[in-house]
Amino acid sequence: MSHVFVRRPGRAYPRAVRAEGVWIWDADGRRYLDGCASACVVSIGHGVREIEEAALAQRRQVSFVHGATFLTDACERFAGRVAALSQAPDLDRVYFVSSGSEAVETAVKLARQYWLEKGRPERHKVVSRWGSYHGNTLGALAFGGHVGRRRPYDPLVPATPHVEPCYCYRCPYGLEPDGCALPCAEALDRAVRYEGADTVAAFLAEPVVGATLGAVAPHPGYWRRIREICDAHDILLIADEVLTGAGRTGRGLALDRWGVAPDLVALAKGLASGYAAVGAVLVHRRVHDTVRDGSGAFVHGFTYNQHPVSMAVGDRVLAYLEEHGLVARAEQMGETLLAGLRSALADLPVVGDVRGVGLLAGVEFVADRNTREPLDPDLGFAWQVAEAAFHRGLLTYPGTGCADGTRGDHLLLCPPLVISREAVSSLVDRVRDAVSAACAGSGVA
Ligand SMILES: Cc1ncc(COP(=O)(O)O)c(C=O)c1O
Repeated sequence: MSHVFVRRPGRAYPRAVRAEGVWIWDADGRRYLDGCASACVVSIGHGVREIEEAALAQRRQVSFVHGATFLTDACERFAGRVAALSQAPDLDRVYFVSSGSEAVETAVKLARQYWLEKGRPERHKVVSRWGSYHGNTLGALAFGGHVGRRRPYDPLVPATPHVEPCYCYRCPYGLEPDGCALPCAEALDRAVRYEGADTVAAFLAEPVVGATLGAVAPHPGYWRRIREICDAHDILLIADEVLTGAGRTGRGLALDRWGVAPDLVALAKGLASGYAAVGAVLVHRRVHDTVRDGSGAFVHGFTYNQHPVSMAVGDRVLAYLEEHGLVARAEQMGETLLAGLRSALADLPVVGDVRGVGLLAGVEFVADRNTREPLDPDLGFAWQVAEAAFHRGLLTYPGTGCADGTRGDHLLLCPPLVISREAVSSLVDRVRDAVSAACAGSGVA
């Protein structure tokens, strides 16, 4: 009997015994291509020896000291590298945590404290977007907009304002991207006015929506307009780059692609590539200085902020990313992956859209390509595809609810940034086989 409370009790899980590059082996000797970087985490690939050596060296020196008492060299180095991910020179203070949910909640609390320090206690609301994912702790869940993940806990999460995402494939205004005046961005302006601009502390959103919509990139003008609206109402812009940050989209931060600088950025996942549980909030100097020159203390903190071993690991991971040119590689390989998926899936009517930015690709499945009608959610089609892919030795990241919260199926593909062209081609072949198999198994055309 196992004592582990697994995600899906009753399901048999293979035991991972070895991992290297883009491959993972289980105890029965089966090999899996990690087509989703194990939930979009393992950016530099599995089994990089020098990361383990950095962890060991730090462990031998100082394995743990508390962040309320000490800094370490590793923490200073890592903070410098995290700040360098952004092109915005004033985003230069880093608050370390241990996960993406912690990073999001930390950013929100910091935004709130910023306004308290400014003598504006009425500014407390955080506007976020439907169809988003910001983490599973209760606070992060409240800001998230994934109906399936929120609903069981609705009575426990505070009601906060949400607006529509920028999702051109399913534009709620029935528009096409060409010539669109961005009513989805204007929705933020209206929401802020309805709520009362003086009561709003921040807007929180993912630059490219990952887990819940399946690699949905915004209209090219969207983020600039969002920044203008935030500035007009004097509200802070929080970018949740937990999934997109640290090179995944072919930029240090995804928002750099659109030349927009946020005030706070939540990071995790690829930041330490899974070699340690690390998250961070990249903070604008103005926000940091307001706290420093005000009360002088951020009323927050976790035991494992700035864990020395995590800092040493993160520092080496970001150094590796830079030394191997992996951010640029994400852009190049992302193009190869998207082109491969588009051509391999073109004749499958169930594939409605293939999209992505950098090495973050999404495939959305539909019942009808012309009307974009979603599949019957009872089919659990995305999960069937993921299961079929798993049996073909490919790990993917399925999701449901992208169309309207309940309906809509998609598959996220986001392999480690070190993936080779051959492995991309093998990934694409396996996705095609898996989608065909799921169609055959569920009677979908
Ligand atoms: C955009 C985004 N924010 C936050 C989180 C939560 O991160 P974690 O699971 O590390 O708490 C995730 C995780 O998938 C995410 O994709």
